Order: sequence, then C-alpha cells, then structure tokens
Amino acid sequence: MSVRGTDSYTDTDRLPEPVARAVALARRAGFEKSCRPEQGRLLQALAAGATGAVGETGTGCGVGLAWLLAGRRPGTRIVSVEREARLVGPVRELFADVPDLEIVHGDWTLLHGHGPFDLLVLDGGGNGKQTAPADPELLLTPGGTLVVDDLTPLTAWPPTHADRPDTARTHWYAHPSLLTTEVRLAPDLATLLATRRP
Ligand SMILES: C[S@@+](CC[C@H](N)C(=O)[O-])C[C@H]1O[C@@H](n2cnc3c(N)ncnc32)[C@H](O)[C@@H]1O
Repeated sequence: MSVRGTDSYTDTDRLPEPVARAVALARRAGFEKSCRPEQGRLLQALAAGATGAVGETGTGCGVGLAWLLAGRRPGTRIVSVEREARLVGPVRELFADVPDLEIVHGDWTLLHGHGPFDLLVLDGGGNGKQTAPADPELLLTPGGTLVVDDLTPLTAWPPTHADRPDTARTHWYAHPSLLTTEVRLAPDLATLLATRRP
C-alpha cells in the first residue's frame, strides 16, 4: 500500500484490464491506499511464478489483487481478506466473473482457514506493522514467498522507524524459518521479500 498509491496511477490505458477496473473502483470509493504500480508489477511477476495458492491480507479496493490476477497461472487459487464490509462488497462485485478467487470478509487471521500459500502478500494485517506478524510456518508452504509492501528503503543497519528500532522489519530478517531481503522499487519505496526455508 501507499498513502497516495491510488493517485500514482496516471496512465490507466496501459494497465492490465483487471488493474484498470480496480483503480477505477478505488477512485470512485475515495480509497487512497492502493499499492503503487511498481509494487503491482512485482506482485504480477511473483504471481506468475506461484505454483500453489496465493493469499493476501488487506484487499482494499482490489488493486494489488488485480495485479495478482493479471499474473497468476490459470487455476491458481487466490484468497484475499478484508475487514471493511464497505470494501468487500464492491470488490466481490468487480471480480464476480473471476474463477478461483475468494474474497473473505473479516480479520486477516481468517486466512489460516485457507492456506498454506505459495505466495503470501501481507498488506493489511499480519505484517508486523500494526498487528502481530503472521506465522510463516502456518501460512506458507516450504519454499513459499512472503511479501511486505510499503517500506522506506533500507539505508542503515539496524533499521529505525520514527527514531525507534524498526522491529516490524527486523522481525522478518531474524525469523529462523525465513531467508529475507528487500527490493528497492523506487527511490522512496522498498518491499520485503522472504522465502520459507525448505
Ligand atoms: C494498504 S490497504 C490495502 C491495499 C491493497 N492491498 C492494494 O494493494 O491495493 C490495507 C487494507 O487492509 C485492511 N486491513 C487492515 N487491517 C486489517 C485486518 N486486521 N484484517 C483485515 N483487513 C485489514 C484495511 O481495511 C485496508 O483496506
């Protein structure tokens, strides 16, 4: 996500069709926190490599989900969880004709009933920022990939956030089940990627 994520889609003609539809929904709903296109392209590429189910916390208006749909292989199941009912209904309607997709209404922890996942995108709950971090041993297949969006690029170690130790980030680096790194997607945007050890 990004505070001005929805506004960063300036050229919607060149987007994959589901992404253009979701951006239009986000604009109509006044939802600003969609993932940026740089992150979306990463999600699309990762989804194309997922050999099992894909999970997402925090559907929002479905922009990140649409990038996942644009990249996934046919038959790959995607489950996305969103706690805001006012968002769940319109996104379900938007993707009503899309197979192998479930949008769950409720807290992100409901994802436990649908995993484990080969690709897990933690964009609204479970990422360790405002809520307790998800347990990759429960939610990820061995060799599966976990994604945490919307970090400022790492410039020093140990990392800090608001002048405090950035435990939301270091948690993932220190996790014994994970091999973790970050990718800088723009000068002001990085994404954390972690693979569950086989
Ligand atoms: C950053 S936005 C998601 C953006 C979306 N993934 C995208 O890429 O466009 C975060 C979303 O997570 C939802 N959320 C926050 N905490 C949650 C929780 N504990 N369980 C489920 N959804 C949550 C918010 O309502 C919000 O819609």
